Amino acid sequence: MSFLKLNNLTRRFGGLVAVNDLSFEIAEGKVTGLIGPNGSGKSTTINLISGVLPVTSGSVEFMGHRITGKSPHAISRMGIARTYQQIRVFESLTALENVQVARAGMYRSGLADVLLNTGKLKREESRERDKARELLELVGLGKKGDEMPRNLPYGFRRCLEIARALALEPKLLLLDEPAAGMNRDEFMAVTDLILRLRKTGLSVLLVEHTMEFVETCVDHVVVLNFGQKLAEGTFHQIEQDPRVIEAYLGKEEL
Ligand SMILES: Nc1ncnc2c1ncn2[C@@H]1O[C@H](COP(=O)(O)OP(=O)(O)OP(=O)(O)O)[C@@H](O)[C@H]1O
Ligand SMILES: [Mg+2]
Repeated sequence: MSFLKLNNLTRRFGGLVAVNDLSFEIAEGKVTGLIGPNGSGKSTTINLISGVLPVTSGSVEFMGHRITGKSPHAISRMGIARTYQQIRVFESLTALENVQVARAGMYRSGLADVLLNTGKLKREESRERDKARELLELVGLGKKGDEMPRNLPYGFRRCLEIARALALEPKLLLLDEPAAGMNRDEFMAVTDLILRLRKTGLSVLLVEHTMEFVETCVDHVVVLNFGQKLAEGTFHQIEQDPRVIEAYLGKEEL
């Protein structure tokens, strides 16, 4: 049984085929990179896997279950969490609260516990707060729990978004350009974070433009071009692939 499998996935926007008959697999416990020129269909692929966009045709299987057609919420409950190319956090909540609300659906206390303000609820709340603090610590925001997102540097906002995704305790994490727009220090911090997540055995699908990032962080790479799979393999295999070099030529240095 495959961990995650895309079967002939296609998504059209009017006359434009953003993802075209795309098939590949993601191995459990590995970091898979999804790369390709601008507009090649990377974010659309993430949107199709996470259920944010319906597929035109084809299917996605996760741990032996067909997830195509399920709601984003149902897919996230099955263990797939994601971040967005455009950061999405709650601006009116502190960093700590942002992580806590991401876990809100995981509370075990029932309505009666809430109404009666039981010891069970209090214990759970304090456990949840500790868990949220641990996650902030993990992404390098340990001292920033009380900050509002707008007061955090850009890179930290991205890390906060990753902490929110990790709060769901996913089996698979989908990251859409986690290092985009980062300065050098932030870039190094997020690289280090992915490497630490990899060590924990988390499975990750990482959309990224920066080749240095891909080379450092990924086990396997899938290259898209015009919505189709152009090549796949280890970074060193795809780096030497003439088709990949041609697709990137004049756009980006490999
Ligand atoms: N909601 C939409 N409606 C219409 N066209 C869309 C929509 N989303 C994406 N597209 C188009 O589909 C194609 C693939 O877009 P997508 O965002 O998946 O590319 P990408 O590889 O993530 O690009 P980038 O590197 O710029 O983030 C592009 O031509 C884009 O303009
Ligand atoms: Mg994109």
